[in-house]
Amino acid sequence: MRFVPAGTERIFVSGRGNLSDIAELRRQAMAEVDRAADLASLEGVRQRWLGPKGVLTLELRTIGSRPPEERKAFGEAANRLKGEVAERLEARLSALRAAALDLRLAAEREDLTLPPRRVRLGRLHPLTQTIREVSRIFATMGFETVEGPEVEWDHYNFELLNIPQGHPARDKFNTLWISNPLGGDPDRPVLLRTHTSPMQARVMEARKPPIRVIVPGRVYRFEATDAYHESVFFQFEGLAVDDRITMADLKGVLYSFARQMFGGERKIRFRPDYFPFTEPSAEIAIDCFVCGGTGGECRTCGGSGWLEMGGCGMVHPNVLRGVGYDPSKTQGFAFGCGVERIAMLRSGTPDIRLFQQNDLRYLEGF
Ligand code: DAH
Repeated sequence: MRFVPAGTERIFVSGRGNLSDIAELRRQAMAEVDRAADLASLEGVRQRWLGPKGVLTLELRTIGSRPPEERKAFGEAANRLKGEVAERLEARLSALRAAALDLRLAAEREDLTLPPRRVRLGRLHPLTQTIREVSRIFATMGFETVEGPEVEWDHYNFELLNIPQGHPARDKFNTLWISNPLGGDPDRPVLLRTHTSPMQARVMEARKPPIRVIVPGRVYRFEATDAYHESVFFQFEGLAVDDRITMADLKGVLYSFARQMFGGERKIRFRPDYFPFTEPSAEIAIDCFVCGGTGGECRTCGGSGWLEMGGCGMVHPNVLRGVGYDPSKTQGFAFGCGVERIAMLRSGTPDIRLFQQNDLRYLEGF
């Protein structure tokens, strides 16, 4: 009998061999196979037991030198053990391979848990918010919101508003004219509307009194820009037409609007003014929200204490006649205000150009 070292254990190899030796060899071989922790050490175990110089290989070689009566039983037992060890090696091999694959898959797996990019929720533009609020307030007084074309005929923008060719009021509206590349009709000039007032005539032509509408929309002026002027800006027009409408109705409606829009402490001022399409006409102003109307060095109101919002008046008889109404039976009032001016008042925005510059740092403040 001799012992050969194998790992920490000593492998018992029988020189003479008997069946109980085989049982001991099985125990050792199986234990080694089960202990192999990776493919390389498993291959070492295979070599040590089944390789050309492996324990069992050598053991089987001893068959011939054994006493004849032992050979059969020993040979059978040793061969069976060889088969069992090979099987055990095979099983261990697949187990180790599966474990190695699992490890690799775990290491290579896509990490789907990365947080996605934050979704930025948009919001309504401050001018849209203002227009909606204006429409909402006037709706409480029975006004319907309608819209009209931005590319307009001279006919509606000027003629029907009592501003004929050569009228000095045309100089107030620095107009962007549109030349028709197909020639067009020289007697029907086209322009970008300079105000929302042309919708007065359009609505009156299309409807019968009683009329109560609010017309928000973009208007265009051929003008240099500064903190208070843009060449593209928004207005809203108001028009009420019925019998027995008076200037008191106009003032009541505008006061109510100012109080709902700017709060009860705001003051509103009417001063005589001139517009060709209203008679009498008035300028509407609100006391300055920055200085509270004290003026002085206030840059927002230029020291006047007042902020102009627009104009208003009783619809001129010529305008009523122009759309086929009889001024002795029908009267109306109209007003027009700048949307940006109101948005600036409400938000304390110092420069009208901020509305169109689309700087999110500004827009997100609303
Ligand atoms: N359309 C005028 C402008 O743009 C504003 C205006 C004044 C409108 C008086 C009106 C009004 O309806 O009655 O300057």
